[in-house]
Amino acid sequence: MGRYGMLENIVSHSLEVAKVALFISIELNKKGQSIDLDLVEAASLLHDLAKTECLKTRDDHAQTGSQLLKGMGYEKVGDVVAHHIWLGKEGDPSSVSEEEIVNYADKRVMHDRIVSLEERFSDLRTRYGSNPTAMDYLGRLQKEIYGIENKIFFILQIDPHDLQHL
Ligand SMILES: [Fe+2]
Repeated sequence: MGRYGMLENIVSHSLEVAKVALFISIELNKKGQSIDLDLVEAASLLHDLAKTECLKTRDDHAQTGSQLLKGMGYEKVGDVVAHHIWLGKEGDPSSVSEEEIVNYADKRVMHDRIVSLEERFSDLRTRYGSNPTAMDYLGRLQKEIYGIENKIFFILQIDPHDLQHL
């Protein structure tokens, strides 16, 4: 984080995402899943590694971050980071992946605060909603993330809103 000059607010966001992602992973493992906790923690902390730089270059920060990490030899962490915005693939209906967890946890943390998907997406719509292409993209993103939420919380048997009290 220090080496890539991550902005303070992005560091705080990443710490909160790691907290949510680890909580979900530990609870899922209690229900028989086999989530790699070290991978989830590293990818959560580093998912926005390239974001500060990409704010200037306007490059895709998920892909740039992924490539940086892979270049350092962190192949698996790089794979999870690559999919943290848009998963873009069908997951296994009965098991949850590290990629799905980091992707989901990122959507539940707005800045450094845990919020519902509804709140997070309404904020995104306010910020990007004037652009029809962005609206269409947000619609697809929302569909994908609710699928992940349903799968995780069906296994956990708790309410997604309970995360707000972490
Ligand atoms: Fe990100």
